Amino acid sequence: MPDATGPTKSAHRPSILVTGASGNLGREVVDRLRGRGARVRCLARERPGPRPDVEWAVGDLTDPAVLRAALAGIDAVILIWPLLDSAPARGLVAELAAAAPRVVYVSSTAIDDEAERQSDPIVQVHADMEALLQDAGLHPVVLRSASLHRPESNRTTDHVERLTGRPPRDFATWARDHAPEFD
Ligand SMILES: NC(=O)c1ccc[n+]([C@@H]2O[C@H](COP(=O)([O-])OP(=O)(O)OC[C@H]3O[C@@H](n4cnc5c(N)ncnc54)[C@H](OP(=O)(O)O)[C@@H]3O)[C@@H](O)[C@H]2O)c1
Repeated sequence: MPDATGPTKSAHRPSILVTGASGNLGREVVDRLRGRGARVRCLARERPGPRPDVEWAVGDLTDPAVLRAALAGIDAVILIWPLLDSAPARGLVAELAAAAPRVVYVSSTAIDDEAERQSDPIVQVHADMEALLQDAGLHPVVLRSASLHRPESNRTTDHVERLTGRPPRDFATWARDHAPEFD
């Protein structure tokens, strides 16, 4: 999907690893990064279809060896954590600390910084992931995102709107608005 801003003009084209790259959110992020001229390496357990403009690192996020290989030569990581538990992220965080790329973590706007425990398990995972990354000294850029949807999935839209009283933003708009923070 082309980006209105076009590729960056800087001589250095950063190499960016995107985890969860084949998912709803990851696909939009990859498209936007490519639109800005970044070199993109995608991590997921399965390579979806042929896509010659990105590299693939196929494997499990919880396998440190997969992460070590995926991080070679990478300047920045857009970390989308798809698991419902932060404990398996410890190996990943250790590999990030060793490789020291810039880390952008996609978190949740529902985190309550004053609360000891978060309101639901998914929000708790995001709070725990933020803490793991901070404690490892990675100084992550944390994007606390609201609920997102794909425009074609009206059931999700209705559900989110009923629960939150607000319409969800679509993935494409979110990725476009945050693109400068990925540089
Ligand atoms: N949706 C939202 O509104 C929203 C808002 C804020 C934050 N987020 C965060 O973004 C995450 C992703 O959301 P999404 O809607 O894009 O999910 P999704 O469509 O289910 O995508 C999940 C991605 O993670 C990969 N994956 C899953 N398990 C993996 C593993 N063990 N190792 C490596 N890759 C794995 C999947 O590919 P494979 O199955 O091929 O591995 C896929 O690329 C959510 O879990 C949430 O933490 C979402």
